[in-house]
Amino acid sequence: MYDILLMIHFLSLGAGLGISLTMFVLGLQAGEIPPAEFGPMMGRIGLAMKNVSIAGVTLLVASGIGLVLVEPGMATVGGGWFHAKMAFVAGVVIAFTIVQINQARARRGENPPVAGRRAMIAGRVALACAVTATILAVMAFG
Ligand code: HEM
Repeated sequence: MYDILLMIHFLSLGAGLGISLTMFVLGLQAGEIPPAEFGPMMGRIGLAMKNVSIAGVTLLVASGIGLVLVEPGMATVGGGWFHAKMAFVAGVVIAFTIVQINQARARRGENPPVAGRRAMIAGRVALACAVTATILAVMAFG
């Protein structure tokens, strides 16, 4: 059971980081694509990726909780690094929620340029938190 949860943990991490990094790199194109084209493009890709990214974050957190439930000693093994990782996991969840809220606002036409910009900034925070959480996880369990 533990191994299956760990496989889900790594696969969902791969999916989440992959999407997040792709959105980040696309966001860097902002200066080279006219705003009238850039906004709808990011909105379209965000919508296409919405369900996969929600599934990725949900499975990542759920499998992590599952790992600790199946093997409660892991939290102790991980020590302070594990607690630090949990703080950044919280950062990922909060920033990711802000991305989804702002993408939904942009889709509804509620000031799309502002909502889109907020989604992009929150997406960068989520990516930075996920990378940090990954580094801390290796410090805790590697
Ligand atoms: C953004 C969310 C998360 C990220 C990026 C993440 C990342 C990782 C990574 C990269 C590892 C492998 C470390 C290694 O084996 O060297 C790992 C392992 C682990 N994670 Fe997470 N994790 C996340 C969420 C969680 C949550 C919410 C929990 C529990 C409440 C959790 C519990 C664990 C445990 C117990 C292991 C040890 C597995 C093992 O090596 O046997 N993770 N995590």
